[in-house]
Amino acid sequence: MNQSIDIASIRAQFPVLNEQVNGKPLVYFDNAATTQKPHSVINALQSYYQHDNANIHRSAHTLAARATEHFEATREMLKLFINAKESAECIFTKGVTESINLVAASYGKLVLKPGDEVLLTEMEHHSNLVPWQRICAETGAVLKFIPVESDGSIHLETALACINSKVKIVSMVWVSNALGTINPIQTIIETAHGIGAKVMIDAAQAASHFKIDVQALDCDFMALSSHKLYGPTGLGVLYGKRELLAAMPPYQSGGEMIKEVFLTHSTYNELPYKFEAGTPNIADVIAFKMALKFVSDIGHDSIASHENSLYHYLLNAINHASLKQLKLIGTSSNKIAVQSFEIESLHHFDVGLLLDASGIAVRTGHHCTQPLMRKFGIDGTVRASFAIYNTTDEIDYFIAALQKICHRIK
Ligand code: ALA
Repeated sequence: MNQSIDIASIRAQFPVLNEQVNGKPLVYFDNAATTQKPHSVINALQSYYQHDNANIHRSAHTLAARATEHFEATREMLKLFINAKESAECIFTKGVTESINLVAASYGKLVLKPGDEVLLTEMEHHSNLVPWQRICAETGAVLKFIPVESDGSIHLETALACINSKVKIVSMVWVSNALGTINPIQTIIETAHGIGAKVMIDAAQAASHFKIDVQALDCDFMALSSHKLYGPTGLGVLYGKRELLAAMPPYQSGGEMIKEVFLTHSTYNELPYKFEAGTPNIADVIAFKMALKFVSDIGHDSIASHENSLYHYLLNAINHASLKQLKLIGTSSNKIAVQSFEIESLHHFDVGLLLDASGIAVRTGHHCTQPLMRKFGIDGTVRASFAIYNTTDEIDYFIAALQKICHRIK
């Protein structure tokens, strides 16, 4: 276990971890769905509404100036967090779903022609599948898929073989939300660029685990989620290279995204505002800065090291407990601390309810990856996913709860 971080003091920053659920202390293993929020994020939300609440980029008064300054400070921090060249390449959206829809509708529509290919993997979250289905239907482009192997990984050679001269866009998940598999995005980006394709990375699950450097990766677009990164819900980020964003038409239209409006036509604002129509999610953007600070202060290496230790502890504990009815789904050797599983003859939803009765929160279902579930011949899994505040004691408690559940079906 990582000795350099004090998990007890980290836990103390998360008030929700003191909750009792069904008379038991909460064990929160649903971090891939959303992470809990530290005091600093909660306080920033309250402080904004209590002291600074005003619309941004619009008014001359003091509160408006303060709100604007705090809002733009998050963008500056985000630029550093992902190592973008400039903060104008960081666009605030509603979430990863909106970020991907934006790229599909704006960039996809701009470049895709009949017969062009858009390459995804079979493990995409619906948010990185359905927008491309729709834009392909509209443009006549064709969707292609990098296959997923039985352990939940993709073979690099197979993936590279899918990148041919017809491929114009590769859009893929860095880390699978359902299985935790880490994909070899760097080589795929390089190969895609070799044939002139652009690459969008869904970093929803990756951002809390890996230090992100969009310049080193050289991805063209990247989508991030605030709420999976200890920040507020309803907020995401689209990173895009300036030259691409500048050439793309606006996604939504209205206030803020314009430069000048005439009755019959309009001109558009500069980046990033061209893609931020309407009053944005001001409070949550401001609070997101504290989430980025929380992650940066601990450091990605420490977070990854702690979570990886937990994950290996979990796998060992499952082996030792000889839970024969339990089948792991997603067994690639290159994973983050996410484990999907089934329990023989029990529906995943029922397992979730039984765990909840012990105060343990996991996700059950298809995890918004129905095609992936179909590939495994199942309709869903139980999924445990860890974050920085989880502990081996919680895993022991989880294993004991699983033993009781398995015992019931003997
Ligand atoms: N995408 C989120 C998950 O995997 C909601 O649970």
